[in-house]
Amino acid sequence: MDKLIVEGGYKLSGSVNISGSKNASLPILAAALLTDEPVRISRVPDVSDTNYMLQILSQLGASVERSSGTVRIESPEGISSSASYEQVRKMRASICLLGPMMARMHRCTLPLPGGCVIGDRPVDLHLRAIKALGAKVRVKSGNMVIEAPDGLIGTTVDMRGDNGPTVLGTDNLMMAAVLAKGTTVIESAAREPEVVDLANFLNKMGARIEGAGSRTITIHGVEKLHGCDHTVIPDRIEAGTFMVAAAMVSDGLTINRVCRDHIRTMADLLVECGHTVQFNEDGTSVYVEPGKTPRSGKILTNPYPGYPTDMQAQMTALFAVTPGISVVKDTIFPQRFMHCSELKRMGANIKVDAGTAIITGVEGLSGAPVMASDLRASAALVLAALAAEGTTEIHRLYHIDRGYEMLDEKLLCLGAKVQRVRDLEGGIIEP
Ligand code: EPZ
Repeated sequence: MDKLIVEGGYKLSGSVNISGSKNASLPILAAALLTDEPVRISRVPDVSDTNYMLQILSQLGASVERSSGTVRIESPEGISSSASYEQVRKMRASICLLGPMMARMHRCTLPLPGGCVIGDRPVDLHLRAIKALGAKVRVKSGNMVIEAPDGLIGTTVDMRGDNGPTVLGTDNLMMAAVLAKGTTVIESAAREPEVVDLANFLNKMGARIEGAGSRTITIHGVEKLHGCDHTVIPDRIEAGTFMVAAAMVSDGLTINRVCRDHIRTMADLLVECGHTVQFNEDGTSVYVEPGKTPRSGKILTNPYPGYPTDMQAQMTALFAVTPGISVVKDTIFPQRFMHCSELKRMGANIKVDAGTAIITGVEGLSGAPVMASDLRASAALVLAALAAEGTTEIHRLYHIDRGYEMLDEKLLCLGAKVQRVRDLEGGIIEP
């Protein structure tokens, strides 16, 4: 287990290249199961979550080769339709194997995913979708056993849940429908750029998908899919994280390999809070520097194109050192405030109640030993540590390694004083 030691107070400067999107890569890697021909996917970030997915695909019988950021996957006839608890328990997102397995093999056995620290992670909408296409679902020894002996038949499915649309649920239904008989219409679909990237990948494989990026997606089933080459979109959450770092503790940063449309709400909020944000002409690069008189702000997370839940923790770190009172309400994961108790150990003034954090800006934070809890909460702790006075030790660095490619190296190149060390204390008892 590693920890990150951060010497705060050093201003970042220079430029950083954003990696390919983790959340676009995961369903696209799973979609490789939909054809027995090879697919090549570029700019897949080298992070634990994508490596877990590649391990699972390999254990299912696919051949997997990675050379730097490009992955080649071939899924021959006879691949397994059953993933074990050991394989799946490390990553909740492995639920996105459900759609391609059902489309290709008309059956699958997948462990029911556990919850995680950001809240209960139900799969009822995923099961609503696959049952609507004609599958039968039963639970046996903690596994979902799903079968459609007569194949899947297209229909219209409204995928809206109590907390709005579901990203991976939309992905699963799209992937299940591409080889189904007839046409499937997804109502209340998720509009995230990662859903659009998956639809583009599937269409390159010969699928017939229309309307991705809108609330209604239509999929006309086809007989077979073929191999293709694809490059995943930039990681908009990594980009947003570096934009917040720039606004918090820099003399101005240039962030390259971004997509302006995907990070507009984050850019708009930083401007509203008094910071400088300037895109280049084609929107592939953005310059961010701290405002002279930063202002507090308000976040209400919403499904895309609203403000992303995956970016509220990072902004909370900025709000912690911004004069005034800021408010963060997460409508998607109301429990996603684990970072607040750790930020308070660094001197932040935050009150959390009923899915809302009230942040009163303080003069400055002070370094302290803190504990990472989930991917984005950990990023928030790194941002706070960069701005804090003194030394911060961030334990359980594996949370960050799940979704940020070479974060410590990237920060070192920007002038941060960070060091990854083995956490010999180790002795922290896992919850
Ligand atoms: C994706 O998770 C992302 N993960 C998450 O990013 C992101 O926070 C989330 O979308 C919301 O944008 C990946 O893409 C791998 P949902 P997903 O289904 O698809 C409820 C990160 O940090 N729901 O869109 O699993 C659910 O509880 C991760 O990179 C049901 O009720 O999330 C939540 O309240 C964290 N029933 C809401 O819908 C279901 O069957 C949205 O969840 C499924 C979801």
